[in-house]
Amino acid sequence: MGLNGTVEEASLHYEEAEQLIGQLLSYPPEDPYPLFHRVREIAPIHRRPSGVWTLARYDDITLALRDPRFIRDWVDMSRRQLGPDVDLARPMLESRRWQFQQSNPPEYMRKRSVFAKFLTPAAVDELRPEVERNADALLDAAQQRGEIELVAEFSYGMTLALICKILGFPPPEGGAAQWLDWFRAFGDSFQPVVTEQILKDADTGLLKLNAMMGDRLEQMRRRPGDNLITKLMQAEYDGAPLPDDEIIANAILMFSASVGTSADLISNVIVCLMQHRDQWDLVVQDPDKYVKAAVEETLRYDTSVTVNVPSRLAAEDVEIAGVTIPAGDVVVPLFAAGNRDPERFDDPDTFDITREDIRPLSFGGGPHVCPGQHLARAEAEIALRALAARFPDMRLVNDEAPRRTTSQQRGAAHLNVRLA
Ligand code: HEM
Repeated sequence: MGLNGTVEEASLHYEEAEQLIGQLLSYPPEDPYPLFHRVREIAPIHRRPSGVWTLARYDDITLALRDPRFIRDWVDMSRRQLGPDVDLARPMLESRRWQFQQSNPPEYMRKRSVFAKFLTPAAVDELRPEVERNADALLDAAQQRGEIELVAEFSYGMTLALICKILGFPPPEGGAAQWLDWFRAFGDSFQPVVTEQILKDADTGLLKLNAMMGDRLEQMRRRPGDNLITKLMQAEYDGAPLPDDEIIANAILMFSASVGTSADLISNVIVCLMQHRDQWDLVVQDPDKYVKAAVEETLRYDTSVTVNVPSRLAAEDVEIAGVTIPAGDVVVPLFAAGNRDPERFDDPDTFDITREDIRPLSFGGGPHVCPGQHLARAEAEIALRALAARFPDMRLVNDEAPRRTTSQQRGAAHLNVRLA
């Protein structure tokens, strides 16, 4: 009998599942879906020796995300990821500590509400005209050349400009490359498997980001506006203003949770449609009917966030589909496996924008459901509508769409497109 005595641990498949999950959570292959399928078949609820449980079925993930007995605990998460003696004061962990996503209801709801106001469907609708203008301006520049690199030039251009606008920052002077490097270095530290070098780079990147954000906070203090940072500076919890460290950590969270994920969604939409030309033609012919549907189906078929991090800790024993997850263990939902669960979706490996009632797992669920989901969908819809209207004959150069796959995120590494 294996660890903890679960049926699956005693089974023939335990070693195989453990190896596949280890691979998916550290260095997933270019096409991870065969692995996600196999894991769901042989180990839908799997306990790793470290006490981390992975969930691979749509229904189990849906239940776990909504169960209040699973809580966030940044100290436990950091110790699990980095070892029991980890220095909790190191810069990147100190920043994690301040993130509102690490708190639990009811405190969580109070903190989240400041951010959520800027991300409601109505708030997003107000931003649409500006996002449309921005998308068009980026495409105007490329139209002259007849070609565009859709990842760095277009998708990141759109998502970075928009989050700057919401926060109230001018976009970075001299291009975004430097910022994005710092964000990437910090973001990499959230992967389940990290090296000391990744952590050092994360600390360095974060200290640069802290300094840059600190300067901007000072500017904003002198010139407040109708933006998220001003609201955070005016907010009070329990009668006291928020410390600058907390404002800065959450501004960094908003950037790191939004820029890459949304840019990856845009590039995934385009890759899926370019590789399924009949579906692209549907979008071109009837954008009012198919633009939203194409974004939703891409979220299911090839989501930009494949695995749910930060994980959730069982505050007490929780039973899922007859299996008891003991208090003190954590669960990690594998969204990409649930999104292709044949019990929930017919022909799950078929990309089909005429599908109905999709409800992908890709934005999570329950109290911590992604607050940026309306914004992310709007950005992808605007990008797709603009491209389909202006360049109905566009094609990938050499049919190439190299992937950038980390343990939690999937997008195109770069995407050269011939526009006409
Ligand atoms: C395609 C783009 C995006 C995807 C796939 C995505 C996905 C997710 C997922 C899976 C979670 C965890 C949810 C959970 O634990 O139940 C999350 C959380 C979060 N997302 Fe997004 N997201 C995207 C875009 C955005 C954008 C545009 C923003 C902000 C403007 C944003 C801000 C956040 C924040 C702050 C959290 C933490 C919420 C919490 O745990 O309390 N995301 N996102």
